[in-house]
Amino acid sequence: MSTSSSTGRGSFGTSLGVILASAGSAVGLGNIWRFPTEVGNNGGAAFILVYLAFVLFLSLPVMVCEFLMGRSSHSNTVGAWKVLAPKSPLIVAGYLGILAGVLILSFYSVVAGWTLDYTVLSLGNKLAGDQNYAAVFETFVSNPWKPIVYLCLFLFLTHWIVARGVERGIERYSRLMMPMLLVIIVVLALSASRMPGAEAGLTFLLRPDFSKMTPDVLLSAMGQALFSLSVGVGCLTTYASYFKKETKLMSSALSVCLIDTLVAVTSGFIIFPAVFSVSGLSVDAGPGLVFITLPYVFNATFSSAPVWGYVFSGLFYLLLVLAALTSSISMHEISTAFLTDNYQMSRKYAARIVTAVCMLLGIACSLSFGPWKEYTLCGMGVFDWFDYFSARFCMPLGALAISIFVGWIMPQREVRNQLTNWGTLPIVLYGTFRFLSRWVAPLGVAIVFINELLH
Ligand code: PHE
Repeated sequence: MSTSSSTGRGSFGTSLGVILASAGSAVGLGNIWRFPTEVGNNGGAAFILVYLAFVLFLSLPVMVCEFLMGRSSHSNTVGAWKVLAPKSPLIVAGYLGILAGVLILSFYSVVAGWTLDYTVLSLGNKLAGDQNYAAVFETFVSNPWKPIVYLCLFLFLTHWIVARGVERGIERYSRLMMPMLLVIIVVLALSASRMPGAEAGLTFLLRPDFSKMTPDVLLSAMGQALFSLSVGVGCLTTYASYFKKETKLMSSALSVCLIDTLVAVTSGFIIFPAVFSVSGLSVDAGPGLVFITLPYVFNATFSSAPVWGYVFSGLFYLLLVLAALTSSISMHEISTAFLTDNYQMSRKYAARIVTAVCMLLGIACSLSFGPWKEYTLCGMGVFDWFDYFSARFCMPLGALAISIFVGWIMPQREVRNQLTNWGTLPIVLYGTFRFLSRWVAPLGVAIVFINELLH
C-alpha cells in the first residue's frame, strides 16, 4: 500500500482546503432542504436526537474509514476495494456506490435546479410581497419543461467544474463560499428566532416526543445521517485519494461532522419558527418546505425594510446553489474518477458520460412532479424512489461493508499508520474508533435494517 501522495492523480493543497472541500461535499441540500423535510415528516426533536446519535456513532467512524481507505489506496471507490481487498465480494459495495452516486446526483440536480430558479426569481424581485408561495412552487415544479431547463443548467455547471479537475476548482471555491454560507445561515437563524411562531418552532425542535419513534423513523434518521455526511457511497474515499500524507484524517473528519451538523441543525432553527409563524403552513410539507416557507420568512422578517429581504433572499438562494454545487461535484467525481482510473478515459470524456446519464435520469425525476405524477410504485414516483433507494438502501449497505472491512479485515497496522500519519501523530481515540467501526457501526446498520424488514 502506497504511502506517497505523488501518484499523479492530484492532491488537495492545504489542510483547510481538505476540510472545506470535504465539508463542501457534506454541506448541501441535504442539510438545508432534506434535513428540515425529514425532521418535519418524522416528528421533530426525537428525530433530531436519534439523528445526532447516528452521526456520532455511525457516520463519523465510517467517514474516517472512507478517508483511510481512499488515502491508503489512492484510488476511486471501486479501485480502493480492488487494491485493498482483492477478490473480496465486498467490491460490490464499490459498484453500489457508483450506482448510488449517479442516482443521488440525478434527483439532487432536480432540487438544485429549483434553487437556481428561486435565485433568478428572487434576484428579479419576484419572490416579494403577499403571494401564495405554495401555489408558486407547485406551478413551477409541475411545469413540464421549466424545471428541466434549470436541472440541465445545474448539471452543466457541475460538469464544467469537474471536467476541469477538482483540485484548484473545488478547493479554492469551497474556501471562499463555505464561510459565507455559514455567516448567512447564522444571521437568518437569529432573524427567524424573533418571529411570532418562534416558540412553537423551538418546542417542536427541542422537546422530544418519543411516541413518534417507529422503525421507519429510525431508518429515516440513519439514511439522513449518512446522506448528509456523504458517507457510504465512496465519495469521501474518492476525495481522500487526493489527500496528502500530512492530512490528519481523524481531526478532518471531526471538523467536517461538526460543520455539517451545525449547518443542519441551524437550518431547522430557520425553517420551523417560520413554519409556525405563518398560518396554513405545515411542518410535514415535504420537499417543498424550504421553497414555500423561506419566501415567507424573508418577507415577514424584513417587512419594514423590503430591500433587505430582497438582498437576503437573493443571497440565500445563490448560496444554496453554491452549496449544492460543492456537493454535486463530489457526487459526479465518484463516477468520473472511476471511469478515468478504470478505463483510461480522459477526464473530459468520462465527465461527459456521467453528465449525460444523470441528465436523462434527472429528467425522469423532474417529470415525476408534473406530467408523470400518476406513475407511482407503492405510492412513490421516480424522484422518491431514487431518494429512497440510495439513502435507505445503498448508503447503509455501503457503510456496512466499509466498517466491516476496516474494522475486521484491513490490516490494523495500516489502519494505525493512516490514523497516526505513519507514527508522526499521537494516537488519540484509537480504541473508541476501533470499537465503533468494529461493533457499533455495523451492528447499528444491521439492526435498523432487520427492524425495518420485520415491520
Ligand atoms: N452530503 C450531501 C448533502 O448533504 C449530499 C451527498 C450525498 C453528497 C452523497 C455526496 C454524496 O447535500
